[in-house]
Amino acid sequence: MATHKLLLLPGDGIGPEVMVEVKKLTAFMNAHGLGNFEIEEGLVGGCCYDAHKIAITDATMAKAHAADAVIFGAVGGPQWDRVPYEVRPEAGLLRLRKELGLFANIRPAICYPALAESSSLKRDVVDGLDIIILRELTGGVYFGEPKTITDLGNGQKRAIDTQVYDTYEIDRIARVAFELARKRRNKVTSMEKRNVMKTGVLWHEVVKELHAREYKDVALEHQLADAGGMQLVRWPKQFDVIVTDNLFGDMLSDIAAMLTGSLGMLPSASLGEVDAKTKKRKAMYEPVHGSAPDIAGKGVANPIAMLASFGMALRYSLNMAKEADQIEAAIAAALAQGLRTADIKSEGAKIVTTAEMGDAIVGEMKKLAA
Ligand code: IPM
Ligand code: MG
Repeated sequence: MATHKLLLLPGDGIGPEVMVEVKKLTAFMNAHGLGNFEIEEGLVGGCCYDAHKIAITDATMAKAHAADAVIFGAVGGPQWDRVPYEVRPEAGLLRLRKELGLFANIRPAICYPALAESSSLKRDVVDGLDIIILRELTGGVYFGEPKTITDLGNGQKRAIDTQVYDTYEIDRIARVAFELARKRRNKVTSMEKRNVMKTGVLWHEVVKELHAREYKDVALEHQLADAGGMQLVRWPKQFDVIVTDNLFGDMLSDIAAMLTGSLGMLPSASLGEVDAKTKKRKAMYEPVHGSAPDIAGKGVANPIAMLASFGMALRYSLNMAKEADQIEAAIAAALAQGLRTADIKSEGAKIVTTAEMGDAIVGEMKKLAA
């Protein structure tokens, strides 16, 4: 069996707690011949700042480059609110994305039937929802230069962020969107604001041209991002794959996540370009939720998004689709037993801790593998 090198970066807040459950699962899989994982761990975010005064070290970056997949927890917390901007916890995450070239961020929003009641929307609007927000992750206003605050000397300051997109950046993310859609319900909705932004004008043009050239079989729609946000809460099932830029994708994916009842449920994958020689691509997997400092250390966090992120790593990086299916089935089975962490509690359900939910999912894996 192929050996897979994983770099675990638990990070801050609930990150380390939910990562423990991934370690349980990999240990189980290693012990039962379901996988052959070589695991390394590193610091990222606030915990790395505390140790090294930087959000991620060069040594950890080198390990990330060498890994078959990076499994990332979460970063940040109020205790680091005042650290210098360049070394704030989030800078570690952004450096990983940029230097590993992880331009394609796949954020599925799936509403498990058992959780439709936890959504703030009516059951029929979200029940069975299964859409993907595909977010461009290495360009746009997150990384554009100049990015400055200047003192104007008259009691005023001026802050500048720059939104930049080149043709190739739009083209390659749109290509991922069309390819994903072909394996799903064959529809792509591209969102930008071409009514206000030049990057929106180019985005629209490049997506349209690629579609006409190579993907005419896929249904393509364009929506302005604000109207798209409205449609996302009005009738989300109209969508299949939504492709959008870094900033709009950040916002729209949080909205989409909440439609499903809990941020604690959703995994994500961030993928780089396929290397022509090795046929491999750099990749990082992380839950959509953040470090949740308010519940950190209490053992109540939901480990499902983290475990499902590991499942996505098996599917997209390690060529282990069968085991990925098993993880998804094990998660569904644990929920079907009526087990719920506090964030997804419902009438008649049994409230469990992070560790209990992890144990239950590993237990279901055992049954499925038997
Ligand atoms: C996300 C997060 C990050 C982002 C933060 C932590 C920098 O909100 O992954 O959605 O803005 O991209
Ligand atoms: Mg976000």
